[in-house]
Amino acid sequence: MTDKTKRRSWAEPFKIKMVELLKMTTKEERLRAIKEAGYNTFLLRSDDVYIDLLTDSGTSAMSDRQWAGMMLGDEAYAGSRNFYHLEEAVGRYYGYRYVVPTHQGRGAEHIISRILIRQGDFVPGNMYFTTTRLHQELAGGTFVDVIIDEAHDPTNQHLFKGNIDIAKLDALLDKVGSERIPYISVATAVNMAGGQPISVQNLREVNEWAQKHGILIIHDATRVAENAYFVKRREPGFENASIASIVKEICSLTDGCTMSAKKDAMVNIGGFLGVNDDEIYDEARNMVVVYEGLHTYGGMAGRDMEAVAIGISESVDYEHIKARVGQVEYLGNKLLEAGVPIVEPIGGHAVFLDAKRFLPHVPQDQFPAQAIAAQLYVEAGVRSMERGVVSAGRNPETGDHRYPKLELVRLTIPRRVYTQAHMDVTAEAVIELYENREKIKGLRMIYEPKYLRFFQARFEVMG
Ligand code: F0G
Repeated sequence: MTDKTKRRSWAEPFKIKMVELLKMTTKEERLRAIKEAGYNTFLLRSDDVYIDLLTDSGTSAMSDRQWAGMMLGDEAYAGSRNFYHLEEAVGRYYGYRYVVPTHQGRGAEHIISRILIRQGDFVPGNMYFTTTRLHQELAGGTFVDVIIDEAHDPTNQHLFKGNIDIAKLDALLDKVGSERIPYISVATAVNMAGGQPISVQNLREVNEWAQKHGILIIHDATRVAENAYFVKRREPGFENASIASIVKEICSLTDGCTMSAKKDAMVNIGGFLGVNDDEIYDEARNMVVVYEGLHTYGGMAGRDMEAVAIGISESVDYEHIKARVGQVEYLGNKLLEAGVPIVEPIGGHAVFLDAKRFLPHVPQDQFPAQAIAAQLYVEAGVRSMERGVVSAGRNPETGDHRYPKLELVRLTIPRRVYTQAHMDVTAEAVIELYENREKIKGLRMIYEPKYLRFFQARFEVMG
């Protein structure tokens, strides 16, 4: 990367107004806690965690402007003024004509999947996301991965590993026909690939392909601002474009979006569905009252909608997004310098440890990423998340584990929450764990829930 700012120090574009004290624990306490949690970091109490890198979802620090917005909540059942602010922000920054609020991202995924997918349909997408694919399957669809092959290789240096392989779209079309493909599911800053961006050029090609075949594009806009930052840094022609204009262009190449506002928009809860089509909007507005709430609140309080509206405008600020992605790069580069195997290039929201290279002695059916996450917690009180075979779940047809090529541990950075010193402590803990990696043993799953098993599954250490 030819980023000249790299050799100069930089600091966060904010200062701290309120702090939350952290609890320190001993290794003995953490050993007890992880055993009680069945070696699943989702089942730990957050009070027992020192640095919490489980997720960047709902864990961001809101700004004073967002908190002030919370005090302006209009908690009317219908027609809250905050809904109109949200609608205005979605129109201005993303450009979708209609917005249907939902309690969080998966609420929007549920609604759009039920509206667009029929039994036996196929939904191509640039790598699966857990909740997105499940809603597609529950609606009768089959997800088909059409991301470029490079995305499945953690060492491949492709700058846009979120790109779609048009040849894979063609192959699916030949096999099932356009009438069986309701839409293409396009994520920006692809989470499961390691927070990897899609280029605007690729999206333009996908858009052209979709228009030609009369197929819609539904955009998972959860981390679109992070994607836009990579476009600005890496894609020729966008060097001088604003983050806001890139976000708007990306959205303009799609027909609708599902949004978990808990990420880019830096709120603790909230999401929405954005659409352009009158009929889809009509159906979504009708369905939201069944599953979420009236179409002018959809499961959110008025104050939450206000915080989302303000958060969206903050998410496209260049200094903000540069520091956000910069902090992830800072942690990633420390690990790379120490020889720890991570997904490259470093992604937008998290650093992903490559468990297959980290623990070559633990086979994938003994959940190496889960084992690393558990041991990192025991050693340092740092909480991370498995993104490998446990997260991938079972194939609904065969009932077998799905063995993804990527077996990863995600160190996810909440926005505006931790300092560079927290990143240093985390890096030191991971490096020490890597140096002692041969002591880490595989796990056996002893409890497995039917849906999204990674949230609640329980394990024990192999003897
Ligand atoms: N899409 C993506 C790309 C996500 O990362 C998430 C959530 C969702 C949809 C669902 O949104 O949680 O608001 O219902 N990701 C979180 C994570 C949980 O930790 O990556 P939600």
